[in-house]
Amino acid sequence: MNFEFQNPTRLVFGAGNLSRLGDVVSEYGKKALLVTGGGSVKRSGVFDKAVESLKAAGVEFVECSGIEPNPRITSVARGAEIARTEGCDVIVALGGGSVMDASKVISAATLYDGDPWNMIHHGQENVYVPTVALPVVTVPTLAATGSESNCGAVITNEETTVKSFIQIPLLYPKVAVVDPELTVGVPKDQTAYGICDLITHITEAYLNGIDNTPVQDRFAEGVILTAMEWGPKALANPSDVEARVQVQWSALVALNGWLQVGTDAPYPVHMMEHTVSAYHDITHAAGLSIINPAWMRFAAKSNTAKYVQFAERVFGLKANGPDDLDCALAGIDRFEEFLKSIGCPTCFSELGIGDELFETYAKDTLKIVSDGKGNLPGRPFLSVEDMVEIFRSAL
Ligand code: NZQ
Ligand code: ZN
Repeated sequence: MNFEFQNPTRLVFGAGNLSRLGDVVSEYGKKALLVTGGGSVKRSGVFDKAVESLKAAGVEFVECSGIEPNPRITSVARGAEIARTEGCDVIVALGGGSVMDASKVISAATLYDGDPWNMIHHGQENVYVPTVALPVVTVPTLAATGSESNCGAVITNEETTVKSFIQIPLLYPKVAVVDPELTVGVPKDQTAYGICDLITHITEAYLNGIDNTPVQDRFAEGVILTAMEWGPKALANPSDVEARVQVQWSALVALNGWLQVGTDAPYPVHMMEHTVSAYHDITHAAGLSIINPAWMRFAAKSNTAKYVQFAERVFGLKANGPDDLDCALAGIDRFEEFLKSIGCPTCFSELGIGDELFETYAKDTLKIVSDGKGNLPGRPFLSVEDMVEIFRSAL
């Protein structure tokens, strides 16, 4: 292993911490752009509490509401325009991954005269890399993406049907105010999707990374087991704050970089899913829960020992040595059963998606990430035909 690691986002974690939002934000600015989604924070009362805290700390704010799930570049441009016109000097993201991702890109777009889509990787020759951004404070209301303390953002261009990412250190939020009480009202489907998303963030690094990462492997297995233990408790009793705490912490560490350190892992399942959700506007983790087990079955043939380890350590199966493909596949079956048990879809037909665009998804995915020879990086590298085979096996 050979790496550098730094995650500068300060964490303020624990039930009840929403009341500290105003004090935290006042360290970074006097006038906030308060970014929210389609209204869940208003219905739950979280918005009022956030506003109360901002006011108590003397922070003015102007709102940018209506960020959609799978946030759009037009919403980013709208948010940046409001921030510029209103003279905001700090961004507060109050919502799920979509709100947080949009907020991060708004923070850079506010200080950039060009088209913010230039910052998002979409196969253009020169990706514009911003060097200045307003400070961002994230307040996640869903336990899922880990966006609250990472430097990535995923944005959709609805005109060109492309969903892709920006990932640069500039976009680390200054602070993540993570109050798991804000997730007690999250409906069952979104709670389950969050669990699936966080586990997939871990399996991608675990299964696509380099060999000989025993410390990372144990971290990964520990967080997966924790999410599989506490996730169902949160589903069974949505107001179980302790369960919400464990799921939220799992989601945060799953993608704050720590579990990925030194693994050099690409994220092929995510890349394929983003393309599918660009076309169908489906929930990100619904796509993951369909594609990930299908991809695992394909990949286990060439990376069997790691899948055997997964089967043994996560599901307690017993293998006949590291080449035991049957055991590897049985572990994947058990993983898929877990996803079903929490209510996630595991085939495209459940979402009414047919096979018409399978080749298009594969080709579009390669426009965003490719090894330059027509393959999607991962273990193994995937050709268009491989991706189509994976999609087809999940039909
Ligand atoms: O829009 P509102 O009304 O807020 O409703 C949302 C939305 O409908 C609702 N919700 C959020 N908090 C709630 C709540 N409902 C009730 N109570 C609450 N407390 O949940 C719905 C989904 O919200 P969204 O933000 O879209 O979900 P999620 O957090 O799963 O974020 C998904 C987005 O993040 C991207 C995905 O691709 C997708 O666009 N990702 C971002 C990543 C990152 N930045 O690191 C990594 C991920 O892999 C992912 O790609
Ligand atoms: Zn994800």
